[in-house]
Amino acid sequence: MILLGVNIDHCATLRQARYRDSAGGQVEPDPVALAERAERAGADGITVHLREDRRHIQDRDVWRLKESCATRLNLEMACTEAMTEFALNLGPQAVCIVPENRAEVTTEGGLDVVGGRERVEACVAAMNRAGIEASLFIGPDEEQVRLAADIGAPVVELHTGAYANAYATPGRRAEFERLREAAELAHGLGIKVNAGHGINYVNIAEVRTLPHLNELNIGHSILSRAVFTGIEEAVREMKARMNP
Ligand code: PXP
Repeated sequence: MILLGVNIDHCATLRQARYRDSAGGQVEPDPVALAERAERAGADGITVHLREDRRHIQDRDVWRLKESCATRLNLEMACTEAMTEFALNLGPQAVCIVPENRAEVTTEGGLDVVGGRERVEACVAAMNRAGIEASLFIGPDEEQVRLAADIGAPVVELHTGAYANAYATPGRRAEFERLREAAELAHGLGIKVNAGHGINYVNIAEVRTLPHLNELNIGHSILSRAVFTGIEEAVREMKARMNP
């Protein structure tokens, strides 16, 4: 069975749109309450990205989720000393190390493990020592996958954004093939294979056929559907499409 990590960042995006400077009172919607409902509907984990600019998820959300999460908390984080320290203090079950660029709307590219080897290696080593499962969010690129294995990362999350963007174009086949090859390679090197970014209720029919998939992390499309159906129905429907 492929596991589903529900990324709830955009629940906080909606809250921040109105209550950025609020000190309390009727502050809505609450990402922690959403996470509880997503778990009740079958989410296998809750994913949040504590960005350096704190544009959506706030520190307090993450600490509250640490207390309330009944499944697995996966913290997406930039590879910085401050975030490494935060994660070690928090002690989530998992972290996903992502690149972070202040101007981007969402995480746009994969991590450059080759270019930033020393920093990434130190962060992975710290997580391994603390018993926190670290994954590296990388493009489906042979060199990045091999280096992830070399530096001792137990998991990679393959960036499915290029595939999702190419979905309605002739480039889709090639992008899918890149993901397939990267998944085979990672698995062969003893690394767990997760994937995420741009996965929706349509492309999931193909994404789910990638080999060796452990977990998919999905945010935007589930939260978008939840606006119409509620989060429980949105989670149940995605899980049914992932594991028909
Ligand atoms: N995985 C990672 C590492 C991400 O950064 C994101 C986007 O925040 C996602 C998965 C989820 O992407 P989407 O919101 O497009 O489903």
